[in-house]
Amino acid sequence: MFNVAIIGTGAIAPSHIKGYKEFSEECKISALCDLYPEKAKKTSEQFGLDVDVVQDYQELVYRDDIDLVSVCTPPYTHADIAIDFLNGGKHVIVEKPMASSLEECDAMNKAAEKNGKILSIIAQNRFRSPMMKLKHVLDTGLIGPVLHTQVDSFWWRGHSYYDLWWRGTWEKEGGGCTLNHAVHHIDIFQWMNGMPDEITAVFSNTAHDNAEVEDLSVTIGRYENGALAQITSSVVHHGEEQQLVFQGKKARVSSPWKLKASKSMENGFPEEDRDLEDKLQHVYDQQPDLEYEGHPGQILDVLKTLKGDGEVLVDGIQGRKTLELITAIYESSTFKRPVKLPLSPDSPFYTRAGVLEHAPHFYEKSKTIKNFTNNNITT
Ligand SMILES: NC(=O)c1ccc[n+]([C@@H]2O[C@H](COP(=O)([O-])OP(=O)(O)OC[C@H]3O[C@@H](n4cnc5c(N)ncnc54)[C@H](O)[C@@H]3O)[C@@H](O)[C@H]2O)c1
Repeated sequence: MFNVAIIGTGAIAPSHIKGYKEFSEECKISALCDLYPEKAKKTSEQFGLDVDVVQDYQELVYRDDIDLVSVCTPPYTHADIAIDFLNGGKHVIVEKPMASSLEECDAMNKAAEKNGKILSIIAQNRFRSPMMKLKHVLDTGLIGPVLHTQVDSFWWRGHSYYDLWWRGTWEKEGGGCTLNHAVHHIDIFQWMNGMPDEITAVFSNTAHDNAEVEDLSVTIGRYENGALAQITSSVVHHGEEQQLVFQGKKARVSSPWKLKASKSMENGFPEEDRDLEDKLQHVYDQQPDLEYEGHPGQILDVLKTLKGDGEVLVDGIQGRKTLELITAIYESSTFKRPVKLPLSPDSPFYTRAGVLEHAPHFYEKSKTIKNFTNNNITT
């Protein structure tokens, strides 16, 4: 039985609690921690938990009866909390984004390696049946080399979203929609398509004059073989129509799942390649559905690894790659120039101090509230 502590009991914590509760024969939530202990208490009552509630996570770092920790606090705290628990001999699951700088990611990965503990970064949308099936289809190579990828990370958040005390600042949120919303799609993009060699990006704040950070960014990634990717990150898109489209030389596949294959007629115009479409659809359909999706799916992945079965799908190296791409988007947008990957520690955005020194303030934060009364969110 693995004993679990959850640090931060705000909007995302219930997704972790529900996840752990799915596997109650294998794990038990033993402690909740929040800067506002009354929030942790309320959460424990809401979910009928029998747990210790603490205000300072340090009280839990060296407790022998805790094996695994979920870090559900704002991004600027992720590195310190994760490193302290890893050094305290615990396995750690960290909410996205992994941290607010690459320097912090490197320190987290070092701590995980030094202590021989699992570090897994939440990317719950990888753990969806259609996403796993799409990844499998891409891995077969049947669509040919990918020539163009379109990533539409379209979200919508109202003005008051940035009133929460830690949001809307480079210091505490670490960035805007590219870091905190598109992180989901950028993670899946780099998992499925690999890292580009060069990033050119533009960012802006179009509708949130109460936030320092961007609410819209448009990025072109270029691969060595000439393939291009376009990534739009936004919290100003009504309807939140999100998609990842992979245009291969022979066929196009996407999430949400859609498939088209063309072959050339004698005059170069397209005709449908039915054989290939049938083959690709068959590969997709052959893949089994996941038993658990989203946060429960990722928690199961960690529990299996704890029991010695394989390795976690989203470790700190994967989390860092996603952050590297986002960091390159910020660097390119800020300095209005293409940025080569991989980024070196000399990058002006490698450290949090560098981000704070260079990132533009589109606006200043104009209002700060401690908590919303309504904690319902969509993920
Ligand atoms: N995976 C997803 O789909 C998803 C969705 C929403 C949020 N998130 C991520 O989850 C994290 C938390 O976001 P949220 O929306 O739950 O925020 P939130 O503000 O609702 O909750 C965060 C909680 O952490 C507490 N806290 C802050 N610093 C702390 C500290 N040092 N020690 C203990 N408690 C502390 C706060 O009091 C608050 O209750 C962020 O990294 C966010 O990006 C992920």
